[in-house]
Amino acid sequence: MELTSVSKRFAGVQALREIDLRIERGAVHAIVGENGAGKSTLGRVLVGAVRPDAGQIRVAGQAVSFRSPHDALVAGITGIAQELALLPARSVLDNVFLGVESRRRFGRVDKAGMSRRFADLADQVGLQIPSRALVRDLSLADRQKVEIMRALARKADLVVFDEPTAALSVDETALLLDTVRRLAATGTTVVFISHFLKEVLAVGDRVTILKDGAHVRTVRTSEESEASLVEGMLGRSLERMFPARPPRPREQRAALEVDRISTRTGIDGVSLRIASGEIVGLAGLVGSGRSELLHAIHSGAGVTSGAVAVDGSPRRIRSPRDGKRSGIALLPESRKDQGLLMERSASENVVLGQLAGIARWGVVRKRSERAVARGLVERLGLAGGRISSPVGTLSGGNQQKVLLARCLLDRPAVLLADEPTRGVDVGAKHSIYELLISLAAEGAAVLFASSEIEEILELPHRALVLREGRIEAELEEGAISEDAVMRVALGASPRGGDVG
Ligand SMILES: Nc1ncnc2c1ncn2[C@@H]1O[C@H](COP(=O)(O)OP(=O)(O)OP(=O)(O)O)[C@@H](O)[C@H]1O
Ligand SMILES: [Mg+2]
Repeated sequence: MELTSVSKRFAGVQALREIDLRIERGAVHAIVGENGAGKSTLGRVLVGAVRPDAGQIRVAGQAVSFRSPHDALVAGITGIAQELALLPARSVLDNVFLGVESRRRFGRVDKAGMSRRFADLADQVGLQIPSRALVRDLSLADRQKVEIMRALARKADLVVFDEPTAALSVDETALLLDTVRRLAATGTTVVFISHFLKEVLAVGDRVTILKDGAHVRTVRTSEESEASLVEGMLGRSLERMFPARPPRPREQRAALEVDRISTRTGIDGVSLRIASGEIVGLAGLVGSGRSELLHAIHSGAGVTSGAVAVDGSPRRIRSPRDGKRSGIALLPESRKDQGLLMERSASENVVLGQLAGIARWGVVRKRSERAVARGLVERLGLAGGRISSPVGTLSGGNQQKVLLARCLLDRPAVLLADEPTRGVDVGAKHSIYELLISLAAEGAAVLFASSEIEEILELPHRALVLREGRIEAELEEGAISEDAVMRVALGASPRGGDVG
């Protein structure tokens, strides 16, 4: 595939500027860049979801002009989007074969044939999901697998993956990267968009760096390092990804106390205590109950027994509203399901939870909230300060920053964050770490769940490892190591002994 001088402008933003790009057949071509750099837009141009304003596209030497993803599919090109687009009320099987169902005579859908092909596909990529389950009942990780299988079921010559591993566990990520390599080995071309530079270096043959919609360079990955990619993306180098850990709070006043909480969602008698000013990391495999625990604390979701206290007083928490009133904020895992109003501006979305307060306190308050929103968003480096643009038009990573800004506006006593840096670029990751640290320095208790082992190693004062709904280990600052965390997560003792 070859792009010549491809440009795309959205209201007020030049998303792509005269991009020239050659994608070699059978190669894994990675694309990196900051949030809003134009990666997804480029991916969407390739799969026919966005029509460029100018420029030419050739596939195998032939000029093409896709009017829709269907046109692209006919030309052998498909992709998986960054924000998943599945039909929640339909089964996994239906979603995987949507639009490419095998039909028998008289147009009847051949379910048995589809089931067989599904099983083959699942074997081939090593992903396991029940074919009959409804998509709406699946975890985010499983939904991502459905998208991946759908792309593969279409047997395309070129597949665009837009942040495919964002919701996958370490093992699943390894499987996906394997699949990507295998696809390339059998002649399929893969365009691989990711913020995980390690993955990019591991799986990519070549890598393109985009910045502000423009092409910076395309080179062989063997000639790049994480540091050189970061420098190309940001235009500056990042000395330290993780800011220095703040000193532990001296006074051990508990901001959050959880007493033997159990839930229908699998949390089994979890107790924990987090001091004001303390940062605690929550590790564990996908399915270990990290999100369930955070939701149980924040909104009482699924809780069958147990108690929560904030700043020393017991709270009755039955809903997100109760949580908020008790001084607990939650940064959720999935942006899409968690109430961003896509038509409204970024600043409106930030102050959303405050609307009641604004109405009561009138205009002055509203102005000051706007100012606070602006301050927070600027601190997070929201692309070009576009806080009046509809959130739906911001890039995925920038939407995450809006959600975080909303959480922080409440100045919560307790911040619960579920994968706080998912989908954000390296520069923004750094600012999110700094924000979490400064929030703790101001006296908040921070509990964050992360699948990125480095975040668990570098950021918190203490790490809790969850397994099957129980806290199996508590590791203090000096004792947190990848080995210790993984041992516990997999069900072995933190020191010595064999795994499984
Ligand atoms: N439909 C749209 N309407 C208006 N602006 C848009 C639209 N889609 C994208 N943009 C803007 O175009 C720019 C590029 O967005 P894009 O989604 O391609 O970024 P990205 O590199 O994928 O970022 P991220 O890493 O956050 O996913 C951003 O400024 C974004 O806000
Ligand atoms: Mg994107």
